[in-house]
Amino acid sequence: MARLTVNNQPVQFRMDPDTPLLWALREAANLTGTKYGCGVGDCGACTVIVDGEALRSCQLTLGEAEGRFVTTIEALAQDRGHPVQQAFLAEQAIQCGFCTPGMVMAAAALLAHNADPTEDDIKAALTNLCRCGVYPRLVRAVQRAGQAMRGSQAYGPAVAVAGGATAGDAPVAKAAAAAPDAQTSPDAQTSDAASDAGGAGASRN
Ligand code: FES
Ligand code: FES
Repeated sequence: MARLTVNNQPVQFRMDPDTPLLWALREAANLTGTKYGCGVGDCGACTVIVDGEALRSCQLTLGEAEGRFVTTIEALAQDRGHPVQQAFLAEQAIQCGFCTPGMVMAAAALLAHNADPTEDDIKAALTNLCRCGVYPRLVRAVQRAGQAMRGSQAYGPAVAVAGGATAGDAPVAKAAAAAPDAQTSPDAQTSDAASDAGGAGASRN
């Protein structure tokens, strides 16, 4: 069993501690906005924010996630309103959309620490792969989001930070973004749609 905080909810995963966090999130918690791409840490489709840092959830075991604060795309912001999400739409930095949740989470983590990144900063932080080739638009989108975050306090960062707090005061949202296929698993013992982590493998405290 591993206890961690997922999208501001305390969760117990009754699963093998060697299970990749990605599969705990998708299969037990039904948080399917986080995507499986390569499974070996290369593509970044599975990126979530752990204690304020963008990490590949396919490379982090449940045991390693014990006690940590995990934010998935479902809880990034209410109504898809995070400036990164808005900027991705404005710059049309989405084609098929498969890489988008991971890209958005990586960008949000970057901007939470550096709201005025250079193109090199963005390329260094967002090593995620996009088979559709949105890279030029991606840089513009991240810079646009940073500009919005610098220009308006309403755009306070809403990503998890080290220590279990949430920067800014944006509340956790239900299926906030980029999780069009998020559904409540028949196995899940849920009471709260997107941030639910109940089920055969997980239960909320
Ligand atoms: S699925 Fe995790 S990096 Fe590709
Ligand atoms: S938009 Fe298709 S993989 Fe990135």
